[in-house]
Amino acid sequence: ERNLFSLRELEINEINSLLNRAMAFKNGEVSHFPDRIVGNLFFEPSTRTHQSFIMAEKKMGMQNMDLFPEGSSLKKGESLYDTAKTYEAIGADALVIRSKEDKYYEALRGKLSIPVLNGGDGSGDHPTQSLLDLLTIREEFGSFEGLKVLIAGDISHSRVAHSNMEVMERLGMKVYQSAPEIFQEKKRTYHDMDEIIGEMDIVMMLRVQHERHEVKSVVDCESYNRDYGMNEKRISLMKPSAILMHPAPVNRGWEVTDEVVECEKSRIMRQMRNGVYVRMAVLERALAEGNS
Ligand code: CP
Repeated sequence: ERNLFSLRELEINEINSLLNRAMAFKNGEVSHFPDRIVGNLFFEPSTRTHQSFIMAEKKMGMQNMDLFPEGSSLKKGESLYDTAKTYEAIGADALVIRSKEDKYYEALRGKLSIPVLNGGDGSGDHPTQSLLDLLTIREEFGSFEGLKVLIAGDISHSRVAHSNMEVMERLGMKVYQSAPEIFQEKKRTYHDMDEIIGEMDIVMMLRVQHERHEVKSVVDCESYNRDYGMNEKRISLMKPSAILMHPAPVNRGWEVTDEVVECEKSRIMRQMRNGVYVRMAVLERALAEGNS
């Protein structure tokens, strides 16, 4: 399988192989794919995922063809499927796609001769974000088994949370959730952050996804942070060895206050850096000869 739609479709040994390759790239290994051309199709805004895929493509000697939705035939009503088929027809070797539609990739499954890498689908999955989170955790703690992670905030709208909860549990981590009622999903158990934060190895804050709801009309930034966010007071409750993570972009002040975004416990910048190596690993998997 050369597509990467969701980590749910990968065995744990495949996930570990991708993390091993990402770490090898971080340690200086090179893997070149000259003349390969990747189409980066971002139908939703992105800075980190889009630019770190471009960086990964450049580091691997690839070229890229980026879609600018505003100037494309999407404006004439062309579908994602027909856009992807166009990229295939004109010679792209792989596609990276982000869409606001959950599971947009089901419309492409089995219908393209080139691999598709999911750069995030609605509130569904964000497999490369999850891989870079796992790489950051493995770098910090050496392994996953038994680690306690608190995932906190806008859980119901978060593809990062959905991808991470599933794979972290498969890796033997203990996953806890904390969220205001408006962001809770029925199937999970929720904890008061202050009651459990001192036991956690990792506290992963989530972005309040203002573009997907109107939470601002019912709660202000200060109250949200006081009740559900990360700040100097909560950082002081964390174990000495514990780390703070966030996929970014960060709504400074809402889920994380300005003064702790770059504090000593924060791994937010490292997460972004690791994103390049993880995306090199998934591009290699997609384009290596012999992978079918
Ligand atoms: N973390 C993440 O996916 O960021 P972007 O939306 O900027 O790509």
